Amino acid sequence: MSTPDYLSYLQIMDIPVWVRRNLPPQTVEDLSAESPVVAMSETQVIPQISQVAVSQIIETMPLPTLAMPEITTPVIPITPVNLTEWETLRSQVAACTACSLHLTRKQTVFGVGDKQADWLIVGEAPGADEDEQGEPFVGRAGKLLTSMLQAIGLSRDAVYIANVLKCRPPDNRVPTPEERVSCTPFLQQQIALIRPKLIFAVGSTAAQYLLNTDTAIGKLRGQRWFYQGVPLIATYHPAYLLRRPTEKRKAWQDLQLAQRIFNEASHVSQS
Ligand code: URA
Repeated sequence: MSTPDYLSYLQIMDIPVWVRRNLPPQTVEDLSAESPVVAMSETQVIPQISQVAVSQIIETMPLPTLAMPEITTPVIPITPVNLTEWETLRSQVAACTACSLHLTRKQTVFGVGDKQADWLIVGEAPGADEDEQGEPFVGRAGKLLTSMLQAIGLSRDAVYIANVLKCRPPDNRVPTPEERVSCTPFLQQQIALIRPKLIFAVGSTAAQYLLNTDTAIGKLRGQRWFYQGVPLIATYHPAYLLRRPTEKRKAWQDLQLAQRIFNEASHVSQS
């Protein structure tokens, strides 16, 4: 990824990029289109730095102090929806009438990405854009999620993205317990098929379902949990981050934590 790309993802995440102290004072007016300096604000400028330097900046961003509780959730038996074939599962989702959401949906939203991905991103439920397009996280919140992933070097294609619910709840209301019970065997089956190395749960619905708890997301984030032995990191939902941009810093910390835990787990499994 080029340096300007990294910078723009970090900017979207509201992550400050450090400025070299010894730069001569410059303002935006000094900068031409070809200038090797990227403008961050009217008074703040940063030098065009190398890819290596940007990675170092990312790596040296402060991480949360970790209590790292080794809390595991009870193993939830996977209810076999049907054969462990993706297309069979996809057809079952498309034909599902298990709850009343099938009456109001335009289409089901199955999931998207690499079926052998190391990272599984789990959200709540499709919204209007997703209901229209049949793909998770394609609206405004989805664009932020995509930028969040790109800020740690992950493209949408490199992960798998799914929701707890496969149909849109009217007016984007929170899924009911009945809807969750009807729909979650599909997600369980997806997890069993993908066998991810890390689950990144965005928002309270996903985190609370996967961790089998009603603890608030603000308390679940910032720590490592496990879902059936798979490390799980929870963070705020991107739609919430759009409403509360000041919380993006915490989401950035959660992303870095997830990346660190994934790297550590990969290192252990290779040695
Ligand atoms: N919010 C979600 O939780 N999932 C989507 O797919 C879109 C918005």
